[in-house]
Amino acid sequence: MTPTLGVCYYPEHWPEEQWADDARRMKEAGLTWVRIGEFAWSRMEAHPGKLTFAWLDRAIDTLGAAGLKVVLGTPTATPPRWMLERHPDMLAVDAQGRPRKFGSRRHYCFSHEGYREECRRIAQLLGERYGKNPHVQAWQIDNEYACHDTTVSYSDAALRGFRNWLAQKYQSPDALNRAWGNVFWSMEYADFSEIDLPNLTVTEPNPAHVLDFRRFSSDQVAAFNKVQTDALRPLTDRPLIHNYMGRETSFDHFKVGADLDIASWDSYPIGFLSDRLDASDEDKCRYLRQGDPDNQAFHHDLYRAVGRGRWWVMEQQPGPVNWAPWNPAPLPGMARLWAWEAFAHGAEAVCYFRWRQAPFAQEQHHAGLLRPDSEAAPALSEAIEVARELIDLEQVSPTNAPAALIFDYEASWVFETQPQGADFTYFGLVLDAYRALRRAGVSIDIVPPDAPLEDYSLILAPGLAIMSDALKSRLAASGAITIVGPRSGAKTPEGSIPVPLPPDLPGLDATVSLVESLPPRVSEPFDGDGAFIRWSEHLEGGADALVVTRAGRPALVGSGTLRYLAGWPDAEGWNRIIALAATDAGLKTTLLPDGLRLRDTASHRFAFNYAPEPVTWQGQTIPPAGVHWWPLDQIPK
Ligand code: GAL
Repeated sequence: MTPTLGVCYYPEHWPEEQWADDARRMKEAGLTWVRIGEFAWSRMEAHPGKLTFAWLDRAIDTLGAAGLKVVLGTPTATPPRWMLERHPDMLAVDAQGRPRKFGSRRHYCFSHEGYREECRRIAQLLGERYGKNPHVQAWQIDNEYACHDTTVSYSDAALRGFRNWLAQKYQSPDALNRAWGNVFWSMEYADFSEIDLPNLTVTEPNPAHVLDFRRFSSDQVAAFNKVQTDALRPLTDRPLIHNYMGRETSFDHFKVGADLDIASWDSYPIGFLSDRLDASDEDKCRYLRQGDPDNQAFHHDLYRAVGRGRWWVMEQQPGPVNWAPWNPAPLPGMARLWAWEAFAHGAEAVCYFRWRQAPFAQEQHHAGLLRPDSEAAPALSEAIEVARELIDLEQVSPTNAPAALIFDYEASWVFETQPQGADFTYFGLVLDAYRALRRAGVSIDIVPPDAPLEDYSLILAPGLAIMSDALKSRLAASGAITIVGPRSGAKTPEGSIPVPLPPDLPGLDATVSLVESLPPRVSEPFDGDGAFIRWSEHLEGGADALVVTRAGRPALVGSGTLRYLAGWPDAEGWNRIIALAATDAGLKTTLLPDGLRLRDTASHRFAFNYAPEPVTWQGQTIPPAGVHWWPLDQIPK
């Protein structure tokens, strides 16, 4: 596969006379793709039913004539103002019961049937007009589901939908009462129509109620997306894509992805480090202009799984963004490094966001490949460099990684509902496990719980709150060194504590007898390197202790290939646990220099230097923001 580059473009933001020159410059820069249209509903249909596609026809023709391939977005993330006159109750409602008003974007509730029908209508109109257009080579549905915290809505539409969803799931109020444990605090219902949404309660609502509402809300995103894929499928055979976000767990991306052909995500490494990651202040300074060394790779691996092997970066940060608390510029070279890291993880395309910085409206401080005056911004020359390099290194084919990390969106909802420790997050736990594998130089596949596991030597399943018996047996039988825990198998599907107590793994004599959460600055040191932070479990049973705490309690126990980890390790603890497991799994690992990361493809080993200083590794000095690759048969020993 030869990966390609692209860019996001908004013809409706610029005078039409400028389009042809923009298209020419994109092509000259070596770009293949141009994504357009995803926010342009008010220009496609300025008044209800009054469709004006002529400008879009001309934009697509101009871009296509220059030799670019168009990704056409459905504009459903930005319903125009008139839509509210037609559907006054279509707005999402926040947990305080307040409507989330018009004036920015994503102002809709996923459950609103009337708005869904409008989305079906516009998707069908676009499909009829452009489904066979030779320049439209891919489609993007909507834009960043969940962005701005929009998955969960407490609207009347959501209430109606939730009651139906519960009635279908439980069939009778008695069954629901039993499953949720509603005898507690006299919360029992006599009819589904009595059940409300779990907001505005006096104190915390029943976690089982919240968990089902989270499942329902996730299903609504998948149903909303499917309305549009169903409308487009008969009209086009081009791939359908959605651009997901980083660190977004509010809906099950695997379910949404099942109705799409390619997964893509929007990668803003510097914005995320400042805004979304629990990085230390020290790391936030060290990686200020590079972004976190593992966060991009984590999402590349996750979305490769969501796309069943096919994935893109639909939006790549080119320079300072506008939306993080602070918005520094990338180190020279990062716009190139980020693209190469994506390609090394199997991305088919990387599209920079955006072509030209807009001098107006919300994102006027967000850099593009061009400045507002159309001069080149710093990232343009890096994009050109990547495009040239791709010509020389045509094939970048992904290969199966030796290690798998199991990822489950539902687990995130379980721990958000009852964290039991203020800083316990599923995403944070899984990312820490991932970081440890990366520091050891291991290439990783992130996989859903139902993925085949036979081809891996090492499997990690941290925080997998709800584990089916089938998964437990598959893990026990996989033959791979498998580390389960902490908090894996800790809940029933209803969100209760199972009996027999967790983890209840076949062939492993270990039972979690007590759990405790630890505040910041408190840790549970191991005997030797490492410690538990945030979360620590007490174990009973005869399984061999492979690592013990200084207090003499088992921290990691194992029997055969199956291990249980009884807490959240700090970085040193993870390094030790991964080194032990890798040795047993027959994997060669090394602790990489700080900031250096590796990734193997079918033909090459790539090295990326995220450190602000040069790094020398295996005889090769890589400058800050540098990328180096070796053919696999020439890797220094
Ligand atoms: C993304 C979004 C884009 C733009 C960009 C700015 O979240 O999809 O439309 O807002 O962020 O960084």
